[in-house]
Amino acid sequence: MGILQDIIGSAKQIQKTIVLPEGDTDRTLKAADVVLNAGIAKIILIGDPEVIKKKVKDFGLTGIHRAEILNPIDHPKREELKKLLFEIRKGKGLTFEQTDELVNQPLYLGPLLIKAGYADGEVAGAEHATGDVLRPAFQIVKTAPNSSVVSGAFIMIVEDSTYGDDGIMVFSDCAVNPNPTAKQLAEIAVASAQTAKRIAKIEPKVAMLSFSTMGSGKHEDVDKVIEATKLAKEMAPELLIDGEIQADAAIVESVGRKKAPNSKVAGVANVLVFPTLDAGNIGYKLVQRLAGAQAIGPVLQGMAAPINDLSRGCSVDDIVNLIAITANQAQEA
Ligand code: ACO
Repeated sequence: MGILQDIIGSAKQIQKTIVLPEGDTDRTLKAADVVLNAGIAKIILIGDPEVIKKKVKDFGLTGIHRAEILNPIDHPKREELKKLLFEIRKGKGLTFEQTDELVNQPLYLGPLLIKAGYADGEVAGAEHATGDVLRPAFQIVKTAPNSSVVSGAFIMIVEDSTYGDDGIMVFSDCAVNPNPTAKQLAEIAVASAQTAKRIAKIEPKVAMLSFSTMGSGKHEDVDKVIEATKLAKEMAPELLIDGEIQADAAIVESVGRKKAPNSKVAGVANVLVFPTLDAGNIGYKLVQRLAGAQAIGPVLQGMAAPINDLSRGCSVDDIVNLIAITANQAQEA
């Protein structure tokens, strides 16, 4: 797939360091081996060195000797990272004693290594639920300047399609915020446009989706999307953003012309911003299954440094691809 090859190609050029907290588990270790042998990124593996050693032998892995391996319960950076965690979380009631146990947890250690400057990004979630990966990331790495909300976008690629940019679209938020406010939705729209530009390499045309098009429906949920559209336009006047708009009017030219004739986005949208997580998560999974789309992500946007969450059903290739995406995001950050 061209877009993925581009992402992998630019990751090779920038050589970022990506930390993998699930570093002694099978798929992550195999993905790290592919990444290291192909020169896609530098890797820090968090995990039990003895387990890693045995698996390297069992699986015949040839690249892992190039990784830095960090045993979470015994490594030279432990005291430094405990102090860092205490400084970040003491205002939230964390005691220094409590840091001792938390720094043993790989999903805390990963974001701490980023915060301390040892790594540029993290990929995790092959073995853990979304909330377990995101909570420490939110607490330690936090949101980027000018951002108050982290959201999750998918780059959707539909073969032989004329919708979006020859079948390439960005869907958001499909992963994090169950019921965003109008202001959060506006931020998600602007962040998704950046993801479209920087990662999917398409010129964003953002549709704020609703069950109503330009006033056809009346409901407080429609009002939220109208308000979000107004705020997003104020936040990023240079972007093409429009709404509220139904999905068909957003992506089908003939319907867009009919329902929203004055819109520059209607009919040609390539970034779809869903009003709730229900809509976004259900929407991307339906397109993935019914249209056979490739769904790359979730690419988390709005974080101060890139941390990306895998699906627990992910393949080794999915992990490799998300490491390459994370490296690209680190360059942008
Ligand atoms: N953006 C930025 N920061 C956030 C966000 C956000 N969206 N949500 C929470 N935070 C911060 C909070 O400000 C808080 O920071 P603080 O402790 O420094 O004050 C910290 O994170 C913890 O906040 P809580 O409200 O306690 O967060 P909680 O742990 O309850 O929820 C979570 C966060 C886990 C991400 C929750 O929003 C969630 O479960 N979302 C749905 C995830 C999900 O199941 N997605 C679908 C599956 S993914 C897929 O299918 C691709």
